[in-house]
Parts: sequence; structure tokens; C-alpha cells
Amino acid sequence: MQRIPLILEDRPINHSLSLKDTHSLPEEDKSVLQIWGRASLHGHVKISGAKNSALAIMAGALLCPEDCRLSNVPSLVDITRMGQILSALGVKLERSGDTLDINARHLEQSKAPYELVSQLRASFFVIGPLLARLGVARVPLPGGCAIGARPVDLHVRGLQAMGAEVHIEHGIVHAYVSGSGRKTLKGAKIYLDCPSVGATETLMMAATLAEGETTIENAAQEPEVVDLANFCKAMGARIRGAGTNTITISGVPSLHSVDYSIIPDRIETGTFLVAGAITHSELTLSPVVPSHLTAVIAKLQDIGAKVIQEEPNCLRIVPGRLRATDIETLPYPGFPTDMQAPFMALLTLSEGDSVITETVFENRLGHVAELNRMGADIRVKGNNAIIRGVPMLSGAPVVATDLRASAALVLAALAADGKTTIQKLHHLDRGYENLEAKLRQLGAKLQRVQEDVEVEETLMAQSKITAPPL
Ligand code: UD1
Repeated sequence: MQRIPLILEDRPINHSLSLKDTHSLPEEDKSVLQIWGRASLHGHVKISGAKNSALAIMAGALLCPEDCRLSNVPSLVDITRMGQILSALGVKLERSGDTLDINARHLEQSKAPYELVSQLRASFFVIGPLLARLGVARVPLPGGCAIGARPVDLHVRGLQAMGAEVHIEHGIVHAYVSGSGRKTLKGAKIYLDCPSVGATETLMMAATLAEGETTIENAAQEPEVVDLANFCKAMGARIRGAGTNTITISGVPSLHSVDYSIIPDRIETGTFLVAGAITHSELTLSPVVPSHLTAVIAKLQDIGAKVIQEEPNCLRIVPGRLRATDIETLPYPGFPTDMQAPFMALLTLSEGDSVITETVFENRLGHVAELNRMGADIRVKGNNAIIRGVPMLSGAPVVATDLRASAALVLAALAADGKTTIQKLHHLDRGYENLEAKLRQLGAKLQRVQEDVEVEETLMAQSKITAPPL
């Protein structure tokens, strides 16, 4: 008889964290996700608010000394961590459902805590608003991460162009506006060597309160940059050109209160579209902004799935026979690097040879070894992955290496024969709101269990096979 494992509730671990408590960092999650593949899915998925928009907009709320009410904020570990960082800076936060109230009237602390910034790269973006509001900011270098070195030189050079003095000492970026009187950044012409999302956001926020006009050339055009610009504009900022490669910001003396709703998460949407394609299931998804997914939809159609726009904010995926294609990740509107791993899972089961070229991050192919453990046939040459489609994947124990890699493993597991067990779920909890509940509602067979229960089960199963007869 099968043992009933200890099932954890369908909720990410962030619910146990307080937005205000900077000391209650989550311990490494000891649970694993078990997925029994080849279940057919059907139904509707409600897409959550965009994580990357929400993180940047939370940093943007530091610019305003009045109430900011954000709605459609996803419930995720990263959001909680960002809340803890704002809280450590003296900001008041209240969360109720998907609404987050932020008041930075008493923003007085200019130093972001290392323990938190080191866990969340996006938190470095507070450097722009801190400098704009207080004339001084001390933010630890976020450090590298699993997907690459991820420097912040473009953020720093842009702030310097706006008149900030910047020193990096003992791993902390210390930026300040020198001189007597009001310590205000000055408008500048900035050219970004590459269209960095984070640098565009940092500098756009810094420029909202600067004296004069700032132009950011070769700016990132991602929808999250546009969302942040719209949020700042709703507070009275003067920004033109967000969504193009040249953004112009005319500084204003102060910003006012705002009620703002975050856009839907295009990467979560893309992940569920792949879930439909890889399990040969028809799914509908809303609310979505289809134009944010042009490259993703085009590639799904190349691979053989149909994506139909049912309503302005609703997509339907209709599966088809999967065939190989080539993908190169690029800044928006090119194919998003955040969808690279999920699409690799899909291409493992697509007929023929595909090549994925990762051009945005230098080390973002950690999922290859894990997909190969599940029976995929992928070889890596530099930043290229050559994927030979196989007829079937088989469930296996695998380890998530980063956020989008963990999504790829979930997708592969949904299509694989037998049981897959995914470890290191803290990556998944960073970026997908209620993923397990959403998948279960569609008919997927999966559960989160404590790791020791899983190990015990495995040992029991092994002992049944290997125990010598008495
Ligand atoms: C954001 C997203 C992330 C996404 C990425 C690219 C957030 C919170 N995260 O990350 O999910 O994968 O955009 O779409 O929004 N670079 C430099 N110097 C800098 C800054 C960046 O060389 O100062 C390089 C990076 O190393 C990387 C490339 O630029 O190779 C793109 O990075 P960037 O667009 O800045 O990514 P993030 O903003 O960190």
C-alpha cells in the first residue's frame, strides 16, 4: 500500500514571512515537489501580476512621500524580501490580498541591509530612488548569481553622469550628491552600452526628481520598464519614450500619491502556454497582454502549437504536433531570456534538432544537465544548446538551479513518464504565485512533501527491491 506523504499546503513559503521583519529570512526550503507526468490538463489559468514590474515599482514608491497603493501584486518570496528592504529603510508597508500600501514619508535610512540585498538582485534598484530623495544611498553590491556575474556598472556610470559621487568600498556602493543646499541629481545624457532592464529602471527613477532633463539612449524596452514609467507618471513624473530605445525624463520637484495596478506577468503566461503545448492540452489564460508575448507566441506557432486570442486579454493554446525550431534570446522585443529554459523543456520533445542560443546571460544553461537526467538529448557548446528531440522523457530526481530552470523542470515533469522529484524549491517560490494550486486545478498530479519523507519513501522502495529474502 502506498504511504500517504505529508502534504504541504498550496502556498509559497513567503506567507510565513513578515514584510517588516528584516530578520526572519526564509531558511532553505527542505520540501520537494513530486510530479506524476502525462496527465492531460484542461481549463483556465488566472495570471498573476508581474513579479519584475512589482519589484521595480516597489523601489519606485520610495520616490514619493505620500501613500502609494499597488494592486495586482503577486504573493512571492521576492516581493516579501523587497518589502523587508523597504521596511529597513523606514518605509511603512501594509499588505492585504493582492494590494500593497506603501508610504515612504519617513524614508530616512539610506543604507540597505546586506543580508537582504544579497538575496535579491532587484533590490539594488533602490539606489536610484534613494539618491533622488535623500541625496545619498549606500547599497551593497548584489553580487553574482547562478545565471551570471550580473555587474551593476551601467547603473553606477549613469548615476555618475547625473552628478553623483560613487565609491565602492568593502562591497558597498556609496553614492551621494555633494555640495551644500538641496542635494539634487542633475539631468544628463546617458548611453547604455547594453539595454539593461535594471539600469534603465534605476536611472529613470533617479531622473524623475533630478534638476533638468535626462535622456537614456539604448534603453531597455521591456513591458516592465513601461509599467514603471506609467507608475511614475501616475505620481506626476514627466517621462516620454518608455517602450522605445530612447527615454526622456524631465525632472519635477516632487511626486504625489497614487493608486496603481501592476501588469500581468508575461513570463508566467509564457510558462503556462508551454504547459499546454508540452502536455498536448488546450488551456485558456487571462488576464494577459498578448502584445507583450509576440516573440513567445511566434515561437510556439513555429513549434506547432496554435495560440488564439479569444478576447483582448485572453489567450487560448491549442496543441499540435511538436517540431524543432531555433531560438536566440535577445532584449525585448526579442525572445525573452526568462523563457529560454521553459522552451528548452518543450524542444526536448519536439521532432528534429533545435538550437537555443543564450545571448543575454553568460551562464544560463544549468537546466541542461537536469533535463538530460530526464532522458533529454541536449549538448552544450559555448552559449548554444543543441537539442535533439526525443519521443519521451522519463521522471527522475532533479535539482532546480535557478528560478526559470525550476519552471523548465516542472514543465518537463508534466510531460514525462512516471514521477519526477524536484529539489531546491526556493527558486520556484521566488517567482511563481501558487503554481502548484494552479496546475492542480488544471488536472496535474503533483504534491509538495517534506524532503525526509521523500527520502524515506525512496529507501523503502529500494529496500523492497534489494532486501535479501529472509
Ligand atoms: C531583469 C529581470 C530578469 C531578466 C533580465 C533580462 C528583474 C528584477 N529581472 O534583470 O528577470 O532576465 O532583466 O531581461 O527585472 N549588465 C551589465 N551591467 C549592468 C547591468 C547589466 O553588464 O550594469 C548586463 C548583465 O550582466 C546581463 C545583461 O546586461 O548580461 C542584461 O541584464 P539586465 O537587463 O540588467 O537584467 P536585470 O535587470 O538584472
